[in-house]
Amino acid sequence: MSLYRRLRPALFRLDPERAHELALAGLALASRSRLALRALQAIGRGTRDASLRVEAFGLSFPNPVGLAAGLDKDGVAVPALAALGFGSVEVGTVTALPQPGNPKPRLFRLPEDAALVNRMGFNNRGADALAARLREARAAHGGWLPPVGVNVGKSRAAAAEDAPEDYRRALHAVWDVADYLVLNVSSPNTPGLRGLQAAGPLRAVMGAARRVAAERGERPVLVKLAPDLGPEDLVAAARAAEDEGAAGIVATNTTTSRPALRSPQGAEAGGLSGRPLAPLARAALEALAASTSLPVVSVGGVWDARDVADRLAAGATLVQVYTAFVYEGPTLPAELCRGLVAAREAASRAGGSSGAGSPAGGPSGARSGAGAAGGGGGHAAASP
Ligand SMILES: Cc1cc2nc3c(=O)[nH]c(=O)nc-3n(C[C@H](O)[C@H](O)[C@H](O)COP(=O)(O)O)c2cc1C
Repeated sequence: MSLYRRLRPALFRLDPERAHELALAGLALASRSRLALRALQAIGRGTRDASLRVEAFGLSFPNPVGLAAGLDKDGVAVPALAALGFGSVEVGTVTALPQPGNPKPRLFRLPEDAALVNRMGFNNRGADALAARLREARAAHGGWLPPVGVNVGKSRAAAAEDAPEDYRRALHAVWDVADYLVLNVSSPNTPGLRGLQAAGPLRAVMGAARRVAAERGERPVLVKLAPDLGPEDLVAAARAAEDEGAAGIVATNTTTSRPALRSPQGAEAGGLSGRPLAPLARAALEALAASTSLPVVSVGGVWDARDVADRLAAGATLVQVYTAFVYEGPTLPAELCRGLVAAREAASRAGGSSGAGSPAGGPSGARSGAGAAGGGGGHAAASP
């Protein structure tokens, strides 16, 4: 049993947001120590196997397992998260100005369901602060960081009609420090946000990104969608995004729906993530893969190497995790990557590679997409 699994009962006795803050503070501290980063890299061994590499949106990812947005909203722990072996780190959601988010409590564990419910409401220190922190991280560690995405959302104070300008402001602040950008129009905890998934408003928000690109240079811009859109609305949103130059879709955010849950905390308002979200996220991936040609980053209930292989085989270009990382701990990226390599080796010994999604050239449905080429994403196999 891993050390984390032994410590987890103690950690899970803490208030969930307090536990999150402590874990993130530890990772932020480790990000400032080369010795600590080397120790974390030892945990992340096996995550840079050449067979795991994925080329997508003009960027090179050391492996397909990324960290989803919301865990490191302010980008305080990117080097440590990279050292643990994530193939990409998506920071944010960040907004144009700092904001406190919703009143606490706003994060709930559902251990019986391997899930979380959150209604954080984009608590973050603002886009300028995030940009400064990422600039620092790149100066110290730029040579080996995997692609870093910045997820941008609407400020709570901005009216729906002012959303494009509000996104433009946040994008402008973080553009130069992001390898790729994600327009979050799908969190359930900012009133009115999900209305931006309709074709008209989505085109307007994408237009804001295009204005920043015209000024600052091209970067891949992805759009993150909700699992609660029906397949038709999902595909319509993806097509509108594609028409406006999006490089890919992140599918999906948390769900406001409540599949049968055992934990009493399931009744809390907010977005549900983790295992119960998997069928919805998987269905969204299938709908998008069947009807659009955009690369899809599949997120929602990905838990083990089999899930990763399954999403890749179903057409995902990359996957992301959040809730499984909270439950399974720091060894998760390495376990997923090593499991994927082992599954592919077993499949190739058995004479095929189906079921073990193989973006590194095998016959899977994964698509890399041409998207606009962005910044470096360089990650030579150097150490911190
Ligand atoms: C506590 C928490 C905070 C989150 N915050 C954000 C966020 O700020 N922006 C965002 O796009 N997604 C956010 N998410 C959603 C995740 O990025 C992801 O889409 C979702 O949790 C599904 O993945 P999972 O089942 O692996 O957790 C958050 C999720 C959780 C659990």
